[in-house]
Amino acid sequence: QARECVRIVEVGPRDGLQNESAVIPPAVKVELVNRLTEAGTEIIEAGSFVSPKWVPQMAGTAEVIKHMQRREGLHYPVLVPNLKGLEILLDLLAQQPKGEVPYTDEIAIFTAATDAFCKANTNCTIKESLERLTAVTARAAKEGLRVRGYVSVVIDCPYSGKVDPVIVRDVTKALLEMGCYEVSLGDTVGTGNPTTVGKMLETVIGGSSDISPSVLAGHYHDTFGMGVSNILTSLDYGLRTFDSSVGGLGGCPYSPGATGNVATEDVLYALQGSRFHAPGDLAKIAEVGSWISKQLNRTNASRVGKALEAR
Ligand code: HMG
Ligand code: MG
Repeated sequence: QARECVRIVEVGPRDGLQNESAVIPPAVKVELVNRLTEAGTEIIEAGSFVSPKWVPQMAGTAEVIKHMQRREGLHYPVLVPNLKGLEILLDLLAQQPKGEVPYTDEIAIFTAATDAFCKANTNCTIKESLERLTAVTARAAKEGLRVRGYVSVVIDCPYSGKVDPVIVRDVTKALLEMGCYEVSLGDTVGTGNPTTVGKMLETVIGGSSDISPSVLAGHYHDTFGMGVSNILTSLDYGLRTFDSSVGGLGGCPYSPGATGNVATEDVLYALQGSRFHAPGDLAKIAEVGSWISKQLNRTNASRVGKALEAR
């Protein structure tokens, strides 16, 4: 029986590392991307062009995308919060020697489902951020870059509590209408469970909504250990793209206490033998998870990765 393909967006080098307080040398970030590529990862979020005053750890992203191995056909999206970030990226692309695989062909823009989170993360309201991002998306499209969108806090907000799924739907729609090819739904805090995630998805894609699950992705932080369950639930709702982080690295600097994304190893293990195929070699990705956890001096946050280490 043919297995249906699931896309995995590996966000470890960005979401995974952005929250680390110790300085991580660019060479380690480059090696992380290269090891992931070797392990069969197809989409790797490589970093962000955000204000270094806000997220110092991502300041070296230009060095990372310049020096990492780039394979034809793979994608290496980078986060961009505003036109300034896009201009910095476009300058780099313009300086790139001809004939090389481009540093990236895709940006990711981000907003949120609450004003409180949006302000904490990007210093503006949802409405202001959508205006800002409309300009970014238009410019990126003109330059031939694909644009992916994120909506944060789709379940709970660390500042304003439970989130209304109708707002998640409306913000998602706005991102699609401005030209995002896909919108990733972020359970930033990681409190969602199959019931709350299912209800949120029902609102975003159900009823009078004309949003197809094929343009949505699930971005689930694993704070309460529900990441894999939430992905399995989302598969039932027709989603086929999920964000995950090798070794379960990560967290958002503006979501206190939230832990990393669901671990890539755990997602691959959960799908083994199912009717879904996800790219990437589990054993090799688990080795990358062990390696980066050691580099960062933390315990491996992937249950599967830890179990494989013990063998
Ligand atoms: P602001 O302070 O309102 O912006 O921040 P500003 O325009 O006043 O600029 C402040 C300073 O930053 C200025 O420098 C700018 O030049 C500079 P100064 O004049 O003071 O020396 N600056 C920049 N430098 C480099 N690149 C840029 C840039 N923009 C301004 N792009 C801003 C507004 C949006 C810039 C800021 O709030 C910001 O960078 N926020 C990003 C926060 C972030 O990266 N959060 C984590 C990623 S999102 C996430 O993790 C959630 C996600 O995983 C999904 C989920 O889990 O929910 C995606
Ligand atoms: Mg995140």
